[in-house]
Amino acid sequence: MLQTALHYSHTLIKEVLQPGDNAIDATMGNGFDTLFLADLVGKTGKVFSFDVQEQAVKTTQEKLIAAGLDTRAQLYLQGHETLGEVLDPDFSIKAAIFNLGYLPKSDKSIITLPSTTKKAMTEILLRLVPRGRLILVAYYGHVGGTEELDMVRNYCEALPQEQFSVLNYQFINQKNQPPILFCIERKKP
Ligand SMILES: C[S@@+](CC[C@H](N)C(=O)[O-])C[C@H]1O[C@@H](n2cnc3c(N)ncnc32)[C@H](O)[C@@H]1O
Repeated sequence: MLQTALHYSHTLIKEVLQPGDNAIDATMGNGFDTLFLADLVGKTGKVFSFDVQEQAVKTTQEKLIAAGLDTRAQLYLQGHETLGEVLDPDFSIKAAIFNLGYLPKSDKSIITLPSTTKKAMTEILLRLVPRGRLILVAYYGHVGGTEELDMVRNYCEALPQEQFSVLNYQFINQKNQPPILFCIERKKP
């Protein structure tokens, strides 16, 4: 059976993320991705997670503690666009994930935005190592979602093919705007 965009995002990360690597969860939310990444980076790797909602940090911290993985992740109550203030320009990132949109069952007015998402993507690509992957799962059914989806698509399409391979994965015959996945992989120099 074909994988959903969400499921496929994890498959794509599992293929590259290994113990000792660094990873980014750019939209922490309820912490599912942070937990997934923390498991993969092992004891010697690190996950850096961002969200603008206090509740997201709290929920994620609780999940990590319950799983015994809290030492593997650094949680930031600040926007992903500030990533450059937290990580040096030469810091190596192997995998990063964004779930764009709003947190289900939460304040629907708190959404990711094109300008800040773009800034964060640029900061991550600067640090992405060869064979590293930046993945975006774009939910776009809400007000403002289409603008962000357009930005991501345009940004991805403009990346130089000598440096990056970009994959687009989506179901094209489904109702209710299922999420669309983008995966940017840095090529070997
Ligand atoms: C679709 S949810 C993420 C779901 C999450 N991956 C999970 O496992 O539950 C989007 C999240 O992005 C967060 N967000 C909105 N603007 C942000 C920003 N500038 N930086 C980081 N997170 C942001 C929202 O607060 C929300 O929690």
